[in-house]
Amino acid sequence: MILRVSRYRPGVDAEPVFQDYEVPDRDDWAILDALNHIKDTVDGTLSFRWSCRMGICGSCGMTVNGEPKLTCGTFLTDFTGPVTVEPLRGFAVIRDLVVDIDPFLANLSKVTPWLVREGEEPASEFAQTPEQLEAYKQYSMCINCMLCYSACPVYVLNPDFLGPAAIALAQRYNLDSRDMGDRFDVLSSEEGVWGCTFVGECTSACPKHVDPAEAIQRYKLTAALRSVLPFSRRRS
Ligand code: SF4
Ligand code: FES
Repeated sequence: MILRVSRYRPGVDAEPVFQDYEVPDRDDWAILDALNHIKDTVDGTLSFRWSCRMGICGSCGMTVNGEPKLTCGTFLTDFTGPVTVEPLRGFAVIRDLVVDIDPFLANLSKVTPWLVREGEEPASEFAQTPEQLEAYKQYSMCINCMLCYSACPVYVLNPDFLGPAAIALAQRYNLDSRDMGDRFDVLSSEEGVWGCTFVGECTSACPKHVDPAEAIQRYKLTAALRSVLPFSRRRS
């Protein structure tokens, strides 16, 4: 199997160039295994991120044959011909397949991504019913892989757009019965939910079924209600 890998070495390449590598076409190899084979036995200078190899850490996202994918969950058997591997689109390339994640982390931090509490804490454990857990659980499954940002045409054109995962993360806390925060100002700003044109590619790309498109559309309704009924409930 041929892997056509995008290379960009600062100080060497003026712009990214493709380099072909031949790898064993093994049934049990993910794209990440093939990249590690290249790094270990063919070309130790190839740079890419990974950690868990099991769809948990979110660090191995790349563009595989034009689509944002977790390379540890995308197998050589999914392809018949040469496979093109590029960095995630929508982010500045630092080297080879490694992109700059700082803008993404900055967007996540804008939504106050923690439980906000006011007043006295409960004296004992803060229990939740299964229904209260279910209300936000889906959004808590995000692994910050950035595939949804890479798939989102709005974010690629406007890096100021808060983006799918950050809005889903805000909803993870908005819908948590323990949270008392209010993220209305940031979510309803120009760079918030109203920037979304509901293309829906974020949800298609998400490997953890978080459904960020649903989170965004749901908060649009909340924001619209809040603008006409300023004292309406924060949660919905
Ligand atoms: S919402 Fe899905 S695609 Fe986006 S960062 Fe989270 S896990 Fe990745
Ligand atoms: S290596 Fe951790 S998600 Fe792929």
